[in-house]
Amino acid sequence: MKRMRETGLIVAVALLSLVQPTAFAQPVTIPVETKHHALVLQTDANKNLGIVYMGAKLADKNEYTHVPAMYKQTAEYTGVANAAYATAGSRNLFEPAIAVTHVDGNNSLDLQYVRHDSKKLDENTSLLTVFLKDPVYNFEVTLYYKSWFNEDVTEQWSEIRHNEKGNVVLNKYASAGLYLKAGSYWLRQYHGDWAKEMQAEETRLTHGIKTLDSKLGTRANLFQPSVFMISLDKPATEDEGTVLYGALEWSGNFRVDLELDNQDNLRIMAGINNYASPYILKAGEVFTTPAFVSVLSSNGKGEASRKLHNWARNYKLLDGKGTRLTLLNNWEATYFDFNEAKLKELLKDTKKLGVDLFLLDDGWFANKYPRNDDKAGLGDWQENKKKLPNGISSLVQEAQANGVKFGIWIEPEMVNPKSELYEQHPDWVVKQPGRPEHYFRNQLVLDLSNPAVQDFVFNVVDGLFTKNPTLAYIKWDCNAVIYNAYAARLGNQSHFYIKYVQGLYAVLERIRKKYPTVPMMLCSGGGGRVDYAALQYFTEFWPSDNTDPLERIFMQWEYSYFYPAITSANHVTDWGKQPIKFRTDVAMMGKLGFDIVVSHLKEKDMTFCQEALKTYNAVKPIIWQGDQYRLQDPLTNAVAAVLYINKEKTTGVVFNYLVSNRYDAGSLLPIRFKGLDPAKKYTLKELNVYPGTTSTIDSSKVYSGEFLMKVGFNPDVKAGRNSVVLEVKAVG
Ligand code: GLA
Repeated sequence: MKRMRETGLIVAVALLSLVQPTAFAQPVTIPVETKHHALVLQTDANKNLGIVYMGAKLADKNEYTHVPAMYKQTAEYTGVANAAYATAGSRNLFEPAIAVTHVDGNNSLDLQYVRHDSKKLDENTSLLTVFLKDPVYNFEVTLYYKSWFNEDVTEQWSEIRHNEKGNVVLNKYASAGLYLKAGSYWLRQYHGDWAKEMQAEETRLTHGIKTLDSKLGTRANLFQPSVFMISLDKPATEDEGTVLYGALEWSGNFRVDLELDNQDNLRIMAGINNYASPYILKAGEVFTTPAFVSVLSSNGKGEASRKLHNWARNYKLLDGKGTRLTLLNNWEATYFDFNEAKLKELLKDTKKLGVDLFLLDDGWFANKYPRNDDKAGLGDWQENKKKLPNGISSLVQEAQANGVKFGIWIEPEMVNPKSELYEQHPDWVVKQPGRPEHYFRNQLVLDLSNPAVQDFVFNVVDGLFTKNPTLAYIKWDCNAVIYNAYAARLGNQSHFYIKYVQGLYAVLERIRKKYPTVPMMLCSGGGGRVDYAALQYFTEFWPSDNTDPLERIFMQWEYSYFYPAITSANHVTDWGKQPIKFRTDVAMMGKLGFDIVVSHLKEKDMTFCQEALKTYNAVKPIIWQGDQYRLQDPLTNAVAAVLYINKEKTTGVVFNYLVSNRYDAGSLLPIRFKGLDPAKKYTLKELNVYPGTTSTIDSSKVYSGEFLMKVGFNPDVKAGRNSVVLEVKAVG
């Protein structure tokens, strides 16, 4: 409220100054400083707000004013090339952050600095607010920079409003603009598809605009996520180089433009994708963009990740400092083919295996069009009477009797055309009235811009919890993209993609208000949806339906740049050819689950899994809350290695995998550890040793942290010993 009132006051002052002639303005320098870095904004004599510096922090704030004079680049024709929030239609000649059509049809926008306000929200968090206005039109933008000092993380977003006499069209409305100066820029970006998520490409940016975007509407990351990194001057390594990570906190269409200009400077504009989405802004209405989060590191990708992980766990994730449940899922064990008796057996196996929870997947619902495959039933969230004559509640009770918790799969945003829901509410379905329907996995998307649909989706979840108060987990799936975007009840179709995501968040808000911490997995036909807006409502995400552990080593490695291990739901399944030990070791690098037929496990495999779960319960706080160090990249090494260590640097776990089957491939050289205390002495003990085999690691030997980091340690990875987990423990 206070913020609203202040803003109102500023608006009044700003509007008054519209009629004043522009006086000569002294430059205003506004550093957004964190522990190691600074983003410095500065006004020019014409009150244009530009970015004059982004990089390592200077001890003396006053020296930022000297920065611009140090660059002798070619002529700058616009005077606004470094704009903090570039506009369209006036002097800017580059990609704008914002483009509008005023009520009178004029397409120009100019934003001048009015004032700023900086405040500390707590010991670690600050918020800078900068007010900008157009000197000709009654149009204003407020830029926000929220920064977390210790983590060097910044979130940027904007608020757009006007008081023109009518509606203004927002043709583009980015969350943030950034401007970097370096000799060269190296982009690491991702692409993928089902079961092929997070495929990395790292290239030098050439002149022009590189756009990362999605137009898929729902599972927006299927082909490309919004996460990216930019290394300056040379590709950063894990420990060296300046690198910026960026990501849009938005679960729908996004657009990130990276423009290398005529002066060799890099402009980054990130926001909601304006594709098919001009936004009609009424007078007095405030359009708030989602946040764009970024972190800068001068010491390589590893440090950038650890900062982002700390930020996420401390400030962003739902229950980021909390615990998570290990589970047994029945998807790959049964697919749609189960009944109460079969599930009751699986509940017994859940207990025997030693996990916390049983997760009932797809196939438990719908009667008129039973959900026996993915062609029917989606939307009809009543228990299937044939499969489950006594309902979910009898399974929940049975779980309780077995001493395990119970969780359930839903896909509440979706509908099969073969469903009662579709028959009853055809106007709730996203589809073009005059065109043939086009399906993705035999289904369509419900129109979450419609409040009645929002109520329906909320009630799916609320109904389950109301009937089963001890229900302990939800797997929220989202398998289809949006084709033929059209919402029957929406006045302005160009608002659809935005209103869909806002509708989704409104539902999730309601769910979290009533059920604040119940764990929920964000799944999207594999890993099609994760972002930091969604992770405020979900405790974990499903990286991919591809659970072949060899593939997962690569995928989890790439996800780990941006998301901490506690968010990554990793299941042991029958994908791939690796033995159960390899599969379990890989799944332990995150939140462990199983999706196998437990009763089919050979005796030794069963014993191994049971023991591995006990080990996991002992080390999971380190994996979830500790610091992660990527030691050897699977893309460039025969042996991949990742280390997690607690903040005190006294206990760690190192995962080592053979990822090559070339002749003699293995850990020929020692693997250099990171993140240890050089002065501390450590022992190394092999964990997850398969029953009947002996470890080749001598756990009585003591090494200094210095030795382990300078010389390294050989985990003895080779064919036949292709997965080795080590516990690192400080002695004395
Ligand atoms: C998606 C999910 C799977 C599973 C199926 C069920 O593909 O990613 O894990 O839940 O749906 O239909």
